[in-house]
Amino acid sequence: MTFDEAAASPVRIGVAGLGRAFVLSRTAFVEDPRVRLVAAAEPREVSRQAFLREFGGRAYETIDDLCADPEVELVYISTPHEIHFDHVCKAAAAGKHVLVEKPLAISLSDGIRMTDACAAAGVHLLVGPSHSFDTPVQMARAIILSGEFGRVRLINALNYTDFLYRPRRPEELDTARGGGVVFSQGVHQVDIIRLLAGGLARQVCAYTGNWDSERPTEGAYVAQIAFDGCIASMTYSGYGFFDSDEWMDGFGELGARKDMQAYGNARRALKARGAASEMDLKAARTYGLPDKPSSPETYEHFGPIIVSLEKADLRLTPEGLHVYAEDRREFRPAPPFRFSRSEMTAAIHSAVRLGRPPAQSGRWGLASLEVCHAILKSAAYNAPVRLEHQVGANDHV
Ligand SMILES: NC(=O)c1ccc[n+]([C@@H]2O[C@H](COP(=O)([O-])OP(=O)(O)OC[C@H]3O[C@@H](n4cnc5c(N)ncnc54)[C@H](O)[C@@H]3O)[C@@H](O)[C@H]2O)c1
Repeated sequence: MTFDEAAASPVRIGVAGLGRAFVLSRTAFVEDPRVRLVAAAEPREVSRQAFLREFGGRAYETIDDLCADPEVELVYISTPHEIHFDHVCKAAAAGKHVLVEKPLAISLSDGIRMTDACAAAGVHLLVGPSHSFDTPVQMARAIILSGEFGRVRLINALNYTDFLYRPRRPEELDTARGGGVVFSQGVHQVDIIRLLAGGLARQVCAYTGNWDSERPTEGAYVAQIAFDGCIASMTYSGYGFFDSDEWMDGFGELGARKDMQAYGNARRALKARGAASEMDLKAARTYGLPDKPSSPETYEHFGPIIVSLEKADLRLTPEGLHVYAEDRREFRPAPPFRFSRSEMTAAIHSAVRLGRPPAQSGRWGLASLEVCHAILKSAAYNAPVRLEHQVGANDHV
């Protein structure tokens, strides 16, 4: 096979965990001819059957069988945080490339062992898709790298959601087991900010909020991150009554038009669950069951973000960038939207077929996880926290 033929053949992917994350990433696997789903591992029968109906291939009960499948080249690990360590290590031991959902792991020590295992096996480890993959974020990064408006100096990211009131597994509400908004949502903001500021965060100062005794984990935070020559601030509330998607041209996080009539739905559904347990509500949002996300019309986003360079401010929207420069103000539209998470499948193909991995490698994911831990530590000790595991955004090239 020639290099061109190899580059053109789809990357053969096996999925571990056919839950909510897979529902959100599914379209890209269906639409992008550069990848093909050939197998899955999932303990729930209903999702395995749905996979076989939609994709054919094989649907196993365990990750071990998936990793033994010779057709699988890359394993997409979309199982709960606490299993990422075991699943990444198994995939690496079987010689498979890996895309693992964010966050990389819960503990830093596990994260280090995972990145070491993939390096020793000579396989790519990608972490995501976080919202740092979103096309408008990549556009902002390209402007920063071009030098058109000088150096990046200040980044502000803000997000108000009802995250804490969407159906949750018990561990998602237990910080020690990776629960709370810092690990699941903070990591998106950290990834975006690190990518735009160059990756090498130096120090974190943060405060967290934990004020609903029925959902006893961090539901909010305010964090400041210092880089060399750039400062950043991120605020998140998962207790939101206000929804900051109102400020994103009416598009929700996943790029679909926001149904403003749905105001308060998450809290209402949780209160009205009656005999049905919260786990049943959560399970209803997984693959193979009727609850599907609305159709996206544009790129995903993670709330309002403003990037200040020496000679311009950039405001990110789901459809492109507003540029506020000294002598003009303009909108730079994103390329036409085709399907959601095309950035993720492009990154998979680029890494596995072309040998050009994205910035969001295992070491990158470890560095973002370190910032999440620093947020919790800084808030607990009311002190700044220095960082030791940071990598630059261009260190992979
Ligand atoms: N990138 C995103 O936008 C996004 C969105 C949601 C979740 N996530 C991430 O995806 C991961 C999963 O979260 P979720 O909300 O989809 O959870 P979920 O509970 O909806 O899905 C997890 C799935 O993994 C399956 N599973 C459990 N143990 C397994 C095992 N040993 N082998 C194979 N499958 C197993 C479960 O049955 C379930 O179907 C988390 O790390 C989360 O942070 C990412």
